[in-house]
Amino acid sequence: MFIITLYIIPISLVKNVKALILAGGFGTRLRPLSCTRPKLMFPVANKPILDRILKNLSEHGITHVVLAVNYLADILIHNFGNSKYGMKISYSYEKKPLGTGGPIKKAEDLLNKNDEPFLVLNGDILTSINYLDIIKIHKKTDAIATLALYEVEDPSRFGVVDINGRGQIRSFVEKPKIEEAPSRLINAGVYVLDQAIFDIIPAGKKISIEREIFPLLAMKDKLYGMKFEGIWVDLGKPNDFIRANKLMLDLIANEKLFLEKDVKISKNAKIILPVAIGKGAIIEEETHIGPYVSIGEGVTVRKGTRIENSIIFSKAWIDHFTSIRGAIIGEGAIIEGWVKIEDECIVGDHAIINNNVTLTKNVKVCPSKEVKKSILEPETVM
Ligand code: GTP
Repeated sequence: MFIITLYIIPISLVKNVKALILAGGFGTRLRPLSCTRPKLMFPVANKPILDRILKNLSEHGITHVVLAVNYLADILIHNFGNSKYGMKISYSYEKKPLGTGGPIKKAEDLLNKNDEPFLVLNGDILTSINYLDIIKIHKKTDAIATLALYEVEDPSRFGVVDINGRGQIRSFVEKPKIEEAPSRLINAGVYVLDQAIFDIIPAGKKISIEREIFPLLAMKDKLYGMKFEGIWVDLGKPNDFIRANKLMLDLIANEKLFLEKDVKISKNAKIILPVAIGKGAIIEEETHIGPYVSIGEGVTVRKGTRIENSIIFSKAWIDHFTSIRGAIIGEGAIIEGWVKIEDECIVGDHAIINNNVTLTKNVKVCPSKEVKKSILEPETVM
């Protein structure tokens, strides 16, 4: 996806490396969109984020991926099956959510067939990291875990490290106050773990790897880090999702409209790049689409409508002379005519927004709800 493979992948390095993707979270901060789909199915420039992660892994030579699933697992299994991009996909299903550490122990049988370290990825992250670099660095030390580290302005909502010149992490603090953060280097949600980790994580328990395991490993001098630069964004909150979508559109649709099959665009429609338009979408006359808009499969945008900096999930219907800015419209939602939706508002799947309604300032509409009157303050319509 992101990598331009100018180097020759040393196959010996990745031949036996497996990747575990944590895919079972509830995605509570992305409700109501996550009420009806797991976060890993959220489309980023019209493709599920998990699809983009899998493609990236396969381009790095990984051949076996284990998905640790729980919440809405069937949707993931149905969409990704047993193989993708030439990689084998196995599922490790938790009857009860085991957090970010428990699923690693749970998948032990699938991950420990050889003596090799393995990759662990949060499934809600888009990054241009070179997985081979972190595997290589891990193998050079006696680390039990090597974390990918990314520098951010405000580390207070992430795990932050204090690291020495040899790459050894001296302390790991989860979500510190900004003034107490030991650095601006955060845990990027990509790790290489050694098989020894299975002796440290207890079985059958909900465990936070960030809060319970990493601090312990730091104390034992077994936690290392690798700083990287490039692209990194996680799908934590709605504005992160919009940002991830923008980043991806910049990569794939900056110079040319990213268009799928059977799209009908009126000659009088004005498209301002970057924009992605999915299969079978219809864009009528006098519309203004873009910049930074993803329009999903089978969406209809009727005459005179303007959409900017927004994500429209598949099969939504946007009627005439409506304006959507900085918002997310769920699958199959119906937005009637002369509607205005902006400022990080989220319309859940199959919700209906009536004619002339304005939604602004973070209004969230739950799936299948109908909104008949304008809402101008933060509110969740349940
Ligand atoms: P929020 O509820 O909004 O915090 O989102 P989340 O549930 O996705 O939690 P978080 O962002 O901390 O999760 C990081 C990664 O771990 C994501 O890829 C989640 O899918 C995954 N994850 C979180 N909890 C679990 C769990 O209990 N089991 C599994 N298998 N994965 C999990």
